[in-house]
Amino acid sequence: MNKPNPFISLCISMLLFACGTTSSPTDLLNDNAEINDAHSYANIKDIRTTHLHLEIEVDFENKIIQGVARHTMSKHECDTAIFDIKALDIKKITLGKKGSEKETDFDIGDEDQWLGRPLEVLINSDTKYINIYYQTTEKTEAIDWLAPSQTTGKELPFMYTQGQAILTRSWIPLQDSPANRITYSAEVNVPSELFAIMSADNPTEKNQEGIYRFEMKQKIPSYLIALAVGDLKYTSLGENCGIYSEPRLSAACKYEFEDLPKMISAAENLYGDYRWDQFDMVILPYSFPFGGMENPRLTFANPTLLAGDQSLVSVVAHELAHSWSGNLVTNATWDDFWLNEGFTVYFENRIMEELYGKEVADILAVIESQELALTLEDMENGEHPEDTRLKLELDARNPDEGLTDIAYVKGAFFLRTLEQRVGRKKFDAFLKEYFDHHAFETIGTEDFVKYLQAELLEPNNISDFNVDEWIYQPGLPANCVEITSKRLTRMGELAEDINDGENIFIGANTSMSRGDYVTQEWLAFIRALSTDLAPSDMAMIDDKLDFSRSANAVIKSEWYQLAIKTGYKDARPHMKKHLKLVGRRWLIGGIYQTLRDSKDKSDLPWAKSVFEEAKENYHFVSKSSVQEILYD
Ligand code: BES
Ligand code: ZN
Repeated sequence: MNKPNPFISLCISMLLFACGTTSSPTDLLNDNAEINDAHSYANIKDIRTTHLHLEIEVDFENKIIQGVARHTMSKHECDTAIFDIKALDIKKITLGKKGSEKETDFDIGDEDQWLGRPLEVLINSDTKYINIYYQTTEKTEAIDWLAPSQTTGKELPFMYTQGQAILTRSWIPLQDSPANRITYSAEVNVPSELFAIMSADNPTEKNQEGIYRFEMKQKIPSYLIALAVGDLKYTSLGENCGIYSEPRLSAACKYEFEDLPKMISAAENLYGDYRWDQFDMVILPYSFPFGGMENPRLTFANPTLLAGDQSLVSVVAHELAHSWSGNLVTNATWDDFWLNEGFTVYFENRIMEELYGKEVADILAVIESQELALTLEDMENGEHPEDTRLKLELDARNPDEGLTDIAYVKGAFFLRTLEQRVGRKKFDAFLKEYFDHHAFETIGTEDFVKYLQAELLEPNNISDFNVDEWIYQPGLPANCVEITSKRLTRMGELAEDINDGENIFIGANTSMSRGDYVTQEWLAFIRALSTDLAPSDMAMIDDKLDFSRSANAVIKSEWYQLAIKTGYKDARPHMKKHLKLVGRRWLIGGIYQTLRDSKDKSDLPWAKSVFEEAKENYHFVSKSSVQEILYD
């Protein structure tokens, strides 16, 4: 794969030395001069991609993508440009405009388990175009290739990519740091019966040739470049929004997500214009490892969101909120991940409040705070108690380890605590200005702290707010706002009654019909049930409420964990079906963990055997997480 050349002996420190920084200030990352991304090899402070043009073919037969990544580079004085690659086969690299290209030498450095390898390309100080010819391999981690049998329609194959955090480098050779923003365009060749869409401007109709052209005119970080190819149909939901899904799911999508236009208006009223023109979603196969992924203009979503009763739309509010927090204002490194997710959870909750009222928003926040409490306890007793700080230090680790309730929930509660201190009006004005001021830029935690001091705390004469404790200290500060919910408390009481041996379903004034409660109320109910319940008690509850066969995979996942702890084996066939269908990490990881930790020693072997059958239906991200849970 590597071409031998005299260039090999150059080490990275020498390369950096060889690069001057006298280029025009607009080209370089001067604003972020102090930012060091431990998760990228790219020398973006010296030379960086400003535009990426992809010419690729999606080959379903061989399960590879092949083609060329054409990079337009900033002005520079370098003789080397360093890119990130992982499990990619680099064929050749040329310099110059398409048509008048000249091959150049390159070197590929040693592999790091998480980062992949640095790709060092020999260039000249006047090099503007670098063209990397490549193909993906079986080891490519971003791409999920699905057989027709793994789709809803069962007739045509499907593929999609997942870039966040550092997997884009496994399907495109590029400078894979969120500190750099680029525009991109693409020409994508697919089998003519399939429809290709990207995180860019998309057609709404399939074409005959199987050639699709895309353009993303706004600057985005590399982790947001995304592609999906399958038997897709577009369903409009309003002027600037709609859903791509397999044709059979169109009607279900239309109903489930009908509030999307209202969510967009609510979000714009809160924090300013939606800056990406179009907000579409694509419903991927069940293997998609997340509930949602905020790829710009095209949120990727898991079909488990189609619960049939609009009960899981907070995920849509969440991904929509990322159009501001994350996509418009982006965390500079994965150590600053809370700036993406904490702001988004806060914003998601505000959208939910606008649409469904404060009671529902509070229920969501209370459930999250319960989860945070459990996470804190686990983490404080775990290998990395320092990870309970908002600002992380994930050097030499997988950045996905930052994907915890700390970034999401502690982050959101930090903002709620600030809101409580200054009042909602001032806090909203501050956030709106924050998004505006940093639009299409990246921001590190330190920049945020400075901005917070200058624009919110100082103008309001607040000098005693414990910002430092919130961001740089472990645990949850004592001044964290407390949110309560009578409705959730009531669910806890009902569960207690069952724990005490009462049959609440016979009680005079207790109606527990399924449609009367939001998902999180059922979660609270199930969580408050005792693990000492007898299997017969569990069967009685299941008989009334049918949790084992719920259409809501979030409720099912919670219920199955209790079923394991109580030894309620009647749930097993349903649990197995769930584990074999759904690849969303959050909905299967907890079940596998509970099986591993079960006091019934036959549960771990059972979990392993189910995993062996199920794993072909999981994306790399979920497969590797479950593998770790069961085998490490
Ligand atoms: N951007 C995240 C998913 C992600 C984070 C992928 C880090 C890879 C690395 C997405 O917005 C997300 O948070 N999804 C959640 C939604 C939930 C919190 C509402 C999910 O998938 O469960
Ligand atoms: Zn998110």
